[in-house]
Amino acid sequence: MSLSGRARAAGTRARGTVRAPRKARQSPPASAIDGCANVLDFEAIARDRMERAFYDYYAGGAEDERTLAANRGAFAEVFLRPRVLVDVSRIDTAASVLGTPVSMPILIAPTAFHRLAHPDGELATARAAGAARTLMVASTISTYSLEDIAGAATGPLWYQLYVYKDRSLARNLIQRAVAAGYRALCLTVDTPLLGCRERDVRNKFDLPAGLCLSNFEAAGLDVATMGGSFAAYATRQLDASLTWDSIEWLRSETKLPIILKGIIAAEDAARAAERGVDGIIVSNHGGRQLDGAEATLRALPRVVDAAGKVEVFMDGGVRRGTDVLKALALGARAVLVGRPCLWGLASAGEQGVARVLELLRQELTLAMALCGCPNVRAVDRSLIASGWATG
Ligand code: FNR
Ligand code: LAC
Repeated sequence: MSLSGRARAAGTRARGTVRAPRKARQSPPASAIDGCANVLDFEAIARDRMERAFYDYYAGGAEDERTLAANRGAFAEVFLRPRVLVDVSRIDTAASVLGTPVSMPILIAPTAFHRLAHPDGELATARAAGAARTLMVASTISTYSLEDIAGAATGPLWYQLYVYKDRSLARNLIQRAVAAGYRALCLTVDTPLLGCRERDVRNKFDLPAGLCLSNFEAAGLDVATMGGSFAAYATRQLDASLTWDSIEWLRSETKLPIILKGIIAAEDAARAAERGVDGIIVSNHGGRQLDGAEATLRALPRVVDAAGKVEVFMDGGVRRGTDVLKALALGARAVLVGRPCLWGLASAGEQGVARVLELLRQELTLAMALCGCPNVRAVDRSLIASGWATG
């Protein structure tokens, strides 16, 4: 049977039958997260609840984890200049991303293997995103199929694509994402090779029995299993030969808006704009790829200045409502959060992710009020205290 025939058959099977997670949907009592005052509090609960190797896979960065730290450090370096005597009795956090309305400019970044955190995995994350009326980016490397995720989602989805050396896999994934209603394609461009995550090396990180790369399992493909090492799998499978001409190839495969995730250099933002890309995510993969890459908040303003009309988003180290406000002031249309959602998932499944998103919403609302910004249109670079590179 051809790939597409297998995919269709498998896709139907996947679409029709969401496999009940191995364990019943067990979330700890909500009390487990009642004491969380901010999203940072969820990490300690996740660390306690997760197997060490899986926690390390989520928490870790590349090599010396300098960029991982720099992402957070950059937010600490930036200060705000609040404005006063503005009517902030009503704060509207609503935003729109590539024409899709969201209740707040906080999206869920694509992260792999959610079932390492909770049996409901990506289904729980998608449900929490929909309940928060925001958008989730689903990873190629997911532990439920893109069809299952779309079936569980009640809100908008983007699909994050890794291009494998076997291009027919990308074609299969794109066609299925379009059929499942994903609204944009998010091509990750900072991972021609996987960064060296030394925690995973020490832990010999691999998926536990019973879990696999569900998008490929749904298509009956042998790339669904990693063969003992994620790093070796990524080296074998990921296509390191992508160039700017690949954008034309991608455009020939889909009419979906195309977003490039993993841009740091302003020159690349300009090239993306020339190639007619619809969106850019300023990202260093949460410090998991090139250790020593610039912190995303620092790179953001120069990318915004170079990107022209292309919508610019950012991720990396966003943990507070004030972090979101700083990123918006420096030109981001929205931010994406990665690890906080995983900590929430590990702490209390869908409820945990929902609580993380709600805490960020509350903090953003307060930060906007205290800065004299009743809506996101009122947020601009004048909020940023001078003396910090604003592009
Ligand atoms: C990621 N990230 C990622 N990015 C991507 O394009 N595809 C992927 O499959 C993954 N997988 C993944 C797994 C884990 C465990 C993490 C922590 C990250 C990167 C992710 O989309 C995002 O860029 C960062 O996570 C943002 O930084 P914070 O919010 O985690 O600090
Ligand atoms: C990671 C890959 C899956 O960061 O993007 O682990």
